[in-house]
Amino acid sequence: MKCDYLTKAIQKLDLKNIQNKQISKIGEGAWHNVYKIEREFEEDIVIRIKKKVAYGHLQEYKENDLISEYESTKVYYQYANKCYFNICPTFFDYYLDESLVFTIESFMGKGNTLQSLNHTEAFSVGEKLGDFFSVMHSNPHDIKGFGTLKWCGIHLEGEIQKEANQIWQDDNDFYINVLKKLISTNLNFDTEIVADKILNIIGQRRRNQQRISLVNQDVTPENIILNLDNVSIIDPFPRLDFDLKYAGYFVFCYKFLLPAYSNAPRYRSSSYSQNANKMREIADGFIKGYTGNNVSLTKWIMSEYILWILLETYEHLEVLNEKDIGYKTLQQMGDEDIIKNRLIVCLKELENSCLTF
Ligand SMILES: Nc1ncnc2c1ncn2[C@@H]1O[C@H](COP(=O)(O)OP(=O)(O)O)[C@@H](O)[C@H]1O
Ligand SMILES: [Mg+2]
Repeated sequence: MKCDYLTKAIQKLDLKNIQNKQISKIGEGAWHNVYKIEREFEEDIVIRIKKKVAYGHLQEYKENDLISEYESTKVYYQYANKCYFNICPTFFDYYLDESLVFTIESFMGKGNTLQSLNHTEAFSVGEKLGDFFSVMHSNPHDIKGFGTLKWCGIHLEGEIQKEANQIWQDDNDFYINVLKKLISTNLNFDTEIVADKILNIIGQRRRNQQRISLVNQDVTPENIILNLDNVSIIDPFPRLDFDLKYAGYFVFCYKFLLPAYSNAPRYRSSSYSQNANKMREIADGFIKGYTGNNVSLTKWIMSEYILWILLETYEHLEVLNEKDIGYKTLQQMGDEDIIKNRLIVCLKELENSCLTF
C-alpha cells in the first residue's frame, strides 16, 4: 500500500516502526491521496498527500497559496472544535517542500454512505449539521476582512478590507446586476415572476445586514463523515462571508446543486442523483437544526437559496458564452450539452422557487 511519497512523508514525520499492515489508503479527492496510519498506543492518523496533477494540470508549487490553504483549514478546525466538541480533527499540521506537500490530522472514522442512511437518519444528520453551523456562524472570530483567506506572513486575513456595510451593499448590488443580465438575454423563463421576487428579496435584504462569519464553501458529502452519533467535518474550504447566505448555500447544495451536478464527470461516481431524496432530507434537517423551526429565519434561508439558484443559472449562461470550455470546467460541470440542459433545469428551479418560497 505504500507509495514513494507516503514513505517520504512517514520518514519526515519520524514515525518509527510503521509496518505496511498499519497503512491503508482510505480515500482520494481531486487534490489529495489519503492514507490512514493505525498506531498501537496512539490515535490513528491520516496523511493527505497533495497530488502533483489536479484537474489535468501539473500543480505549480506556490508556497504562500499552500500556507493560506492549510492555515485556513487549521483555523477552521480550531474554531469549530471550540464551539462544538470534536466535530473536526483535533490535530492538524502540514509540511511543505517543493518535492512533497502533505497534511497530517486525526482520523475521524469511516462513516456511513449516503445510500445506507434511511430518511430519518438523513434528517437527523442534517439537523446536527444545521445546529453546528448555526453555532459556528455565531461564534466570534478575530480574522479581519472579508472573502478569500490569505496568509499575510503572520496571520490570515480576508482579502477584501472595507466597511462591512459597504460589502453588504455591494453584495446586494451584485445580485441585481446578475438579475438584469439574465433578463436581458432571450432565455425562455417567466421574467416577471423572477424579477419581482428577487427585487423583493434584495429590498428586504439590504435592511437586514448579516453577520460576517467563518463559513465553509465545501460541504459535499465526501467532506462530511456521516456517523449517526457523531457527524464530523473534514477538508473545509473556509472564507469570511455572510452567515445566512452560507446557511442557504448548504441547503442549495443538498436540495439542488449536487443532485443536478451528478451528470458531470467529477461527480458521476457520487450517486448523488440516486440519493437525491436523502439529500433533500439532510437539507430539511439542516434547516430545522439551524433555525430551531424559527419561521422568519427559515424564510431568510430560503431567500438565500433562491439567490444561489440565480447565480448558478447565470454561471451556466456565462460558461456557454465562453469560446472554449476549459478542462476543469468540463470535469466539474460537464460538456456543452450537459451545461445547456442544466441551464434549463436551473431556470425551472428558479421559477418554481420564486413561486414557492
Ligand atoms: N481526517 C480524516 N478522517 C477520516 N477520513 C478522512 C480524513 N481525511 C480524509 N478522509 C477520507 O478521504 C477522502 C478524501 O479526502 P479529502 O481530504 O476530502 O481529499 P481532497 O482534499 O482531495 O478533497 C474523504 O472523503 C474521506 O473519506
Ligand atoms: Mg474533499
